[in-house]
Amino acid sequence: MNQTLTIARPDDWHLHLRDGAMLRAVLPETARHFARAIIMPNLVPPVVTGAQAAAYRDRILAALPDGMTFEPLMTLYLTEDTDPADVAAAAETGLVKAVKLYPAGATTNSASGVRDFDRVRGVLDKMAEIGLPLCVHGEVTDAEVDIFDREAVFIDRVLDPIRRATPGLRVVMEHITTRDGVAYVKANDTDLGATITTHHLIINRNHILVGGIRPHYYCLPVAKREEHRLALRAAATGGDARFFLGTDSAPHTDANKETACGCAGCFTATNTMSILAQVFEDEGALDRLEGFASGNGAAFYRLPVNAATLTLTRGEAVTYPAKIITGEGEVTVFDPGFPLHWSVSA
Ligand code: DOR
Ligand code: ZN
Repeated sequence: MNQTLTIARPDDWHLHLRDGAMLRAVLPETARHFARAIIMPNLVPPVVTGAQAAAYRDRILAALPDGMTFEPLMTLYLTEDTDPADVAAAAETGLVKAVKLYPAGATTNSASGVRDFDRVRGVLDKMAEIGLPLCVHGEVTDAEVDIFDREAVFIDRVLDPIRRATPGLRVVMEHITTRDGVAYVKANDTDLGATITTHHLIINRNHILVGGIRPHYYCLPVAKREEHRLALRAAATGGDARFFLGTDSAPHTDANKETACGCAGCFTATNTMSILAQVFEDEGALDRLEGFASGNGAAFYRLPVNAATLTLTRGEAVTYPAKIITGEGEVTVFDPGFPLHWSVSA
């Protein structure tokens, strides 16, 4: 008999949907399985103001195919010119659920990010006052810091000082990739959470570099050593409510990935739930998948758990398309490198 697991419908607490033709192509891949997602604001130009977030939300809802339901949870891109009053107003109406901090130059479309953290002090103080979470891309950008050390150095040099200077600030460390990130969350209080991606539970840096360079495994923060992957798996499957799913599913066309200077991002929206079920089964933690994918993030964001459900069924191997077709070109779906046996139905 096939094993089935029914969980509250999951949410993705870190997602890139882009805009235009790309948005139209990738949105159904997420909406098929997820009820809500925290939408990253790193468009070109970025989503900085409440008015821009409202317009982007409208474009997302307009791109949703008939018959699908999905709630985009909007974020604002923090710049040195962000107005605390605009942030507070956008949070007050419920439109905006978080503000995203990109250190300038850290990753895709982050040129408008923060260079001088003193210049965002007023916004951070306002966010602490109203309880609005700060989502942090936790990597320093200093040229002299090795790319594999950038998360750990960020925690010491940037994140910890910001948190000490802003009591009450609620922070999500996005897409943690190191045991240092796991340890920092565990050593702190409930105002600190962390998202973990699907792909960082599967790949380490060898997968990117051994036997040929694999651009579809390149993302930021870059996957680290095996010991870090194992720490992430233990955190995701360990039942600690401060860790929750944020796929960081980030579509780039094959043309932009398979080139001399390829873009960072793994596209995992399509097969994430099948992969996660396999991971949690392998770790003997299927009973904790619901917390990681559907419960913990909602609790952190102080939102209700979804009433709708998703059913996972273990059976014959399930396959997903290797690529999805978009108006901008093909996008390769993340290949976990092992067969998937969990199918997903509403
Ligand atoms: O791999 C990544 N891709 N990391 C990021 O931080 C940004 C994202 C993107 O927007 O493509
Ligand atoms: Zn991201």
